[in-house]
Amino acid sequence: MDVPVLEDLDLEKGQRVLVRVDFNVPMRDGVIEDDLRIVAALPTIEHLLDRRVTVVLGSHLGRPKGRPDPASSMAPVAAHLSDLLGREVVLAERAFGPAVEELVASSEPGSVVMLENLRWEAGEEANDPGFAANLAAGYDAYVNDAFGASHRAHASIVGPPRVLPSAAGRLLAREVEVLGRLLREPDRPFVAVLGGAKVSDKLGVIEALLERCDSVLVGGAMAFTFFLAQGLSVGDSLVEPDRVDDCRRLLATGRVQIPTDVVVAQDLADDAETRIVRAGAMPDEWKGLDVGPATVVAYEEAIDKAATVLWNGPMGVFEVAPFAAGTLGVAEAVANCSGFTVVGGGDSAAAVRQFGLADRVSHVSTGGGAALELIELGDLPGLEALRSAPVAP
Ligand code: 3PG
Ligand code: MG
Repeated sequence: MDVPVLEDLDLEKGQRVLVRVDFNVPMRDGVIEDDLRIVAALPTIEHLLDRRVTVVLGSHLGRPKGRPDPASSMAPVAAHLSDLLGREVVLAERAFGPAVEELVASSEPGSVVMLENLRWEAGEEANDPGFAANLAAGYDAYVNDAFGASHRAHASIVGPPRVLPSAAGRLLAREVEVLGRLLREPDRPFVAVLGGAKVSDKLGVIEALLERCDSVLVGGAMAFTFFLAQGLSVGDSLVEPDRVDDCRRLLATGRVQIPTDVVVAQDLADDAETRIVRAGAMPDEWKGLDVGPATVVAYEEAIDKAATVLWNGPMGVFEVAPFAAGTLGVAEAVANCSGFTVVGGGDSAAAVRQFGLADRVSHVSTGGGAALELIELGDLPGLEALRSAPVAP
C-alpha cells in the first residue's frame, strides 16, 4: 500500500500547499464535541509550517449537498485549530476562485488558511473535473491527510493528485501502516469485534476479516439479523430480513460469535424500563438495545486472550445510559488487552474517548467507513490517487 510521504515532497519556503484534511467533526449547536480528527492532523500541519510554506486546509463538514449553508461553516473548526496551533487561521469564504487565490498568494510564508466547506460546492461530491482543476489552481503541492474521507472518490481527494506533486500526510501514512499491519501479519489470536446498526454495511468486511482473524464477535442492532438466521426471536428489534441468508453463510464458518443475552426495552429513553433476556427469549414489542452481561463476559474473555484486536461499532445505544454497559465492557476489555489493539469508526472511537480509555488503545483510527473499506478492499481511492501523482520536478 506504499504511498509517497511528506519527505518525498521537495518543498521550498513560500510555496503553497493544499492539504486535504478530514475535519468532519461531531458538532452540537456550533460546538465541537470531539476534536480527535483536528488534533490528529497537527503533526502534518506543523511539519509544513516548519518548512515555511503557506498551508491551505480544505475539508468537508456534514453533508450540505452542494450549497452554502452557514450551519456547516468551517468557522468553528478554524477557530479551534487556531487555538490548538497558537496562531492565526484565516477562513476563506469559499473553497476556490479568484478571491481565494488572491488571499493565498498574498499570505506570508508560514501562514495557515482554511477553505470553506468543500461540500458547499456541487463539484466536490460529483468529482467534477472542472471543479477539481479550479481547486488545484495556484498550488505547488498537495497533501492528503484526510484518512476518514479517502474512501470517497470526491474531487478534493482524487483531483489534485492528477496535477500536483502529492503525498500522504503523517496521519494518513500512520493509518495505512497500522491497518495494513492488520491485513498483512496480525499476531494471533486475532479477534474482531463488530457492532453498529446495519449488518448490510458490514457483510463485506466480516467476510474479509474471516480470512484473517480467528473470530468475529458481533454486537449492536446488526446482531438481530444473525438471530433471525438462527431462528431466534427478535421482538421489535431492527433487522434486515433480506440479509438473513448472508448471515447464515457467515455463521456456518463457526467463527462468528453472536450475543447470548440482550438488554431489551420498549423505548429508547434514559428512564426506560429494561430487562435482560436470553437470546431466543426476546419478548414481542421489546427492542434489543444492548448486549447483555453474559455476552459482555464472553466477549471480554475472547478479547483478553487476543494478541490482536480490531473493534468497530458500538455494542448498543451507548449514548443512552441504560444501554451503555455492553459498549463500556468491550471498551474496557480492549483497553485492558495486552495485545495490539485498534479501534476504528466514528462511534467506537468516540466511545473509548468518552470513557477516557483512548490512551490505553494502541491505535484509535480517525476513519470509520474508510477503515472498513481499507480492510475490506485493501486499498482506497485516495491512496490510489497519491500513487499515480506526478513527481516533483
Ligand atoms: C466520515 O465522517 O465518515 C467522513 O468524514 C466521510 O464523511 P461522509 O460519510 O459524509 O462521506
Ligand atoms: Mg460516514
